[in-house]
Amino acid sequence: MKRVWTVLLVFLMATTVMVLVARADNGPHGGYTATTDACAGCHRAHTAAAARLLVNSVPGLCVSCHGASGTGADTNVEDGIYLDRDAVTESPAEGIATRGLKGGGFVNALIDTDWDLAVASAAVTSRHTYDGTSGTMWGNGAINSGAGKLNVALTCTSCHDPHGNASTTNGPTYRLLRSVPIDSGAGSGVDVTDESSKTYTVSNGDNQYFGENYGSRGAQLSNWCAQCHTRHAAPSGSGHTDSGDAIYAYRHMTMGATVGCVSCHVAHGTPATMGAYSAAVPWPDGTNPSGNERSSLLRVDNRGVCQLCHHK
Ligand code: HEC
Ligand code: HEC
Ligand code: HEC
Ligand code: HEC
Ligand code: HEC
Ligand code: HEC
Repeated sequence: MKRVWTVLLVFLMATTVMVLVARADNGPHGGYTATTDACAGCHRAHTAAAARLLVNSVPGLCVSCHGASGTGADTNVEDGIYLDRDAVTESPAEGIATRGLKGGGFVNALIDTDWDLAVASAAVTSRHTYDGTSGTMWGNGAINSGAGKLNVALTCTSCHDPHGNASTTNGPTYRLLRSVPIDSGAGSGVDVTDESSKTYTVSNGDNQYFGENYGSRGAQLSNWCAQCHTRHAAPSGSGHTDSGDAIYAYRHMTMGATVGCVSCHVAHGTPATMGAYSAAVPWPDGTNPSGNERSSLLRVDNRGVCQLCHHK
């Protein structure tokens, strides 16, 4: 009996704390009230089609709202565009996308990667996988632990928590990002501060993604990405200081207020194309890429990212 009361007390304390945290997650994710409707967007009590009582397994579940033919969300992550599907009075009008999503796209994306001020939707050449295909989590692990962690199958929920409230203190985070991404092996976790009002599209009207200003979130995102890609994290000076790693020896600075992962990369996928030199850069494990597959989520074609900062 005593144990039951203790459990009940802990539960009551937990719910009290939960009511106090700020609610800034969006859609059916997080910020749940005692009489929330949201659970039914994804779960069934008796008639679920997939494990964890889900109406559909991940990523199908996510794509049923966020996909090209999804209807339950305005962010279409397959085409990398924001469609105002539920508010005809807003600008741009419903169904017409003029700005790309900050993360790019998984199938197509609307990014002016060739920097000609004319943008058209194009098929992506590289992306984070989300369909359960396994790959190498490049750079994951301690110095001299090889190219990375092998055979990792990524999906939407590796990075995002469908229930929001994903910070180390159960508060909201930017884009529902899990403080500790799944399979990262990270310890304490990184909280990326949420936005108070949501802007899902890039600020540049021509969809030139390089130069997008992430403010203080830029450095937080670098810490966040580096939980999976541990050895891609490099402080100032790393370009001329040997890390001691057999593969990731000298590295461009990636952890600063001015240069971070999202200075050069998008999070989901890019249609960038690569020229003779950049298409031939071997993967960290020594294998060779083919075609444009080595576009490495870059914001600009070839090595445009380098030139746009250094102006050589
Ligand atoms: C946007 C879809 C979505 C919504 C909305 C949602 N869930 Fe889930 N839920 C999932 C997914 C996906 C999983 C599988 C585990 C995972 O990937 O995190 C899950 C797992 C769970 C689990 C088991 C594992 C865990 O994380 O604890 C519980 C319990 C749960 N959900 C309860 C709820 C309740 C209660 C609500 C409403 C307050 C809710 N969910 C709303 C998608 C959702
Ligand atoms: C029932 C429809 C529905 C499902 C299923 C769903 N979402 Fe969402 N999601 C939304 C809506 C609505 C928003 C609000 C923004 C918008 O309209 O696109 C949103 C917002 C988000 C955001 C941005 C949150 C923020 O803080 O700004 C992320 C990230 C996200 N969803 C990921 C997922 C993932 C991952 C899954 C699968 C586990 C999923 N969603 C499943 C409807 C859905
Ligand atoms: C949950 C762990 C995880 C997180 C967090 C993560 N990645 Fe990855 N990343 C992977 C894995 C696994 C691969 C290899 C498989 C694949 O391409 O999906 C990968 C591949 C990549 C690639 C190579 C893509 C290609 O062409 O195949 C780049 C570039 C990259 N990640 C950058 C980033 C950046 C930038 C961030 C932060 C915005 C980030 N990653 C966050 C796990 C992660
Ligand atoms: C490797 C980690 C990773 C994976 C896998 C991933 N996301 Fe994201 N996602 C992010 C990050 C980081 C951002 C923030 C991008 C930014 O602001 O530049 C983001 C942004 C978003 C957004 C906001 C719109 C945008 O593009 O900026 C939505 C919605 C979203 N993700 C849904 C999904 C869904 C659905 C899936 C699976 C189909 C998925 N994500 C897979 C890391 C990931
Ligand atoms: C200054 C631009 C720049 C920054 C900043 C940057 N990258 Fe990269 N990244 C690249 C380029 C260019 C490539 C293509 C391979 C090459 O040239 O080394 C790449 C490749 C990758 C790859 C594929 C594996 C590999 O090493 O080739 C991963 C994973 C990756 N980056 C993750 C990250 C993460 C995580 C961060 C932040 C901690 C980050 N990058 C910051 C430019 C950058
Ligand atoms: C967002 C701006 C930015 C981008 C993009 C960028 N750089 Fe840099 N680069 C810097 C800064 C800042 C430093 C100084 C880094 C430090 O403090 O260690 C630097 C340093 C360097 C150095 C000197 C490293 C040393 O310490 O010996 C080289 C070489 C270099 N960058 C080449 C490149 C190449 C190649 C690319 C494209 C893959 C690139 N940069 C992309 C800003 C940038």
